[in-house]
Amino acid sequence: MPLKLGDTVPDFSAETTEGTISFHDFIGDGWCILFSHPADYTPVCTTELGTVAKLKPEFDKRGVKPIGVSVDPLDSHNGWIRDINETQNTTVNYPIIADENRQVAEAFDMIHPNADNKLTVRSVFVIGQDKTIKLTLTYTASTGRNFDEILRVIDSLQLTATRKLATPANWKSGDDCIISPAVSDEEAEKMYPGFNTVKPYLRYTPDPTK
Ligand code: BEZ
Repeated sequence: MPLKLGDTVPDFSAETTEGTISFHDFIGDGWCILFSHPADYTPVCTTELGTVAKLKPEFDKRGVKPIGVSVDPLDSHNGWIRDINETQNTTVNYPIIADENRQVAEAFDMIHPNADNKLTVRSVFVIGQDKTIKLTLTYTASTGRNFDEILRVIDSLQLTATRKLATPANWKSGDDCIISPAVSDEEAEKMYPGFNTVKPYLRYTPDPTK
């Protein structure tokens, strides 16, 4: 059964470019983004892994550890990282799992045989502090992911994890939030005084993190 939102992620032990990890220990008490790519030494993947390296300070700010994975071996990852650093003008600063035996690919259903029966697709799993899945994305090999969008979603996930709020379409950090429909007006007035009612079911309040 493919993993679904709210499922606890499988634990596994794997070789990475930063040593052997045990996945649950790696996540620790923070957040994690596990993302697969089809193959080393390929152009779109090269830009993606370089982009994540450049965005690492943004992931750090949010307490999110990035970790990549493909079915290529460790020596291939290590050689390719040198190319990524050179061509993307960065330093890869997070681990990449060498999943030669496909234990991670299979556990996370990252091989979609009708797309390619050997290589992982571009999967993304955002995992929360409780080690459950907060977001999944699947992209085809020919389309590089938008990691700014992934940061945007993480901002929403982290904001709404501890508050009775949701975020509207195209929301970005700092924009007004939506008060959860489960919250009565009375309760909302206590939590978000002066909130704006557009319709009884559509109530806005400023981003409380700003
Ligand atoms: C790429 O990263 O460029 C790529 C990888 C596999 C198939 C197609 C493109």
